Amino acid sequence: MNDADLGTEALRERALATLVTARDRTTLLTGCVDDPDLTAQHSPLMSPLVWDLAHIGNQEEQWLLRAVAGQEALRPEIDSLYDAFEHPRAERPRLPLLPPAEARRYAAEVRARALDVLERAVFDASGLTRAGFAFGMIAQHEQQHDETMLITHQLRKGPQALTAPDPRPAPPFTGPAEVLVPGGPFMMGTSTEPWALDNERPAHRREVPPFWIDTTPVTNAAYQAFIADGGYDDPRWWQPEGWDHIRRHSVRAPLFWRREGGQWLRRRFGVTEVVPPDEPVMHVCWYEADAYARWAGRRLPTEAEWEKAARHDPAGDRSRRYPWGDADPGPDHANLGQRHLRPAPAGSYPAGASALGVRQLIGDVWEWTASDFLPYPGFRAYPYKEYSEVFFGPEYKVLRGGSFAVDPVACRGTFRNWDHPIRRQIFSGFRTARSQEAG
Ligand code: AVJ
Ligand code: FE
Repeated sequence: MNDADLGTEALRERALATLVTARDRTTLLTGCVDDPDLTAQHSPLMSPLVWDLAHIGNQEEQWLLRAVAGQEALRPEIDSLYDAFEHPRAERPRLPLLPPAEARRYAAEVRARALDVLERAVFDASGLTRAGFAFGMIAQHEQQHDETMLITHQLRKGPQALTAPDPRPAPPFTGPAEVLVPGGPFMMGTSTEPWALDNERPAHRREVPPFWIDTTPVTNAAYQAFIADGGYDDPRWWQPEGWDHIRRHSVRAPLFWRREGGQWLRRRFGVTEVVPPDEPVMHVCWYEADAYARWAGRRLPTEAEWEKAARHDPAGDRSRRYPWGDADPGPDHANLGQRHLRPAPAGSYPAGASALGVRQLIGDVWEWTASDFLPYPGFRAYPYKEYSEVFFGPEYKVLRGGSFAVDPVACRGTFRNWDHPIRRQIFSGFRTARSQEAG
């Protein structure tokens, strides 16, 4: 949304379109496999797909029907089943979940009522419906679970269930390998983006010393050089906890990779392929990203450095909404929205480059940063503590920029994601940085 003063009817249209887009994706992700597949546990790291489906409906019911419209609970007895804090993912297959047909009926009934609420909504000057916030929050929530469900699809064994055209091939990137980001303050976070979530707020000045950052995400070819150089066998490159972790779990390459006949293969949504050298590396944990960077004589960017590289415009006095400017993401800016089921080759999307020429900051792969997930100065939990606040602390590292699997509604220059540093089933990659030497 480009304009905080978007008229009421335009806002209503916008909210409707984002809810419909999210539901179309959910329908596809839960409609392309059979019922046993929907209720199965494909990985202890993930919920059964049928849990995500009813949880999407339940969150929508809680916020749009109950909180915004004051309606009674449709099925109060199911709330606790779909409360993410009551039951860890590994236990969810054994809960008395709504079976697929019932889960679909429930989500559809909630949606029909939510659209009635939207039709009559007044977008107040403050509170949950200000600038359509609650509707935007729920569309983002559904899209986040659509990315989660795509991860479940990737972990699922068996034949391919999803297809999408590949991104356009790109000539090898021949521009400069890194870009200098000048030192000085910039505005981090936002106080004006109407659908920004609590952890992105408020806007605040950050002093960032000059640094160099990779023009593109680190590629599979570059990562293979780290492997070939014995990177997984040399404790010098690893944080002690990371070294323990990879030893204990025999981590020797990104998740889904295997070595065969002298080359690296990987399984991707049910199809095995040779690892494409020019694609951003994906399915690495924070420890792997951190070790690679140290091996390369570099480091991960801090979260503030990442955001400055993405949003700072040396010619302007304010931060941009996206690397390319303030326009909402279009298909030439970034690889988003599951249009493709893989990242695009490094150096793609020249139209999406930042003011300083950094590419693919938005879309393709989530990028690990050096930073713990912490509140900004002046943070206020809104509208509930369990979205962000309960996760703040050193247990989680921040990821930025969004992957090919995230919809534009849930991706911005200020958007923050987080996960444990051992996780790699997510669509995670990284780029590296180094401090500018003084003098
Ligand atoms: C922001 C991706 C870490 O999936 O745990 C979904 C998003 N929060 N439902 C998650 C979320 C509540 C969250 N992440
Ligand atoms: Fe959720």
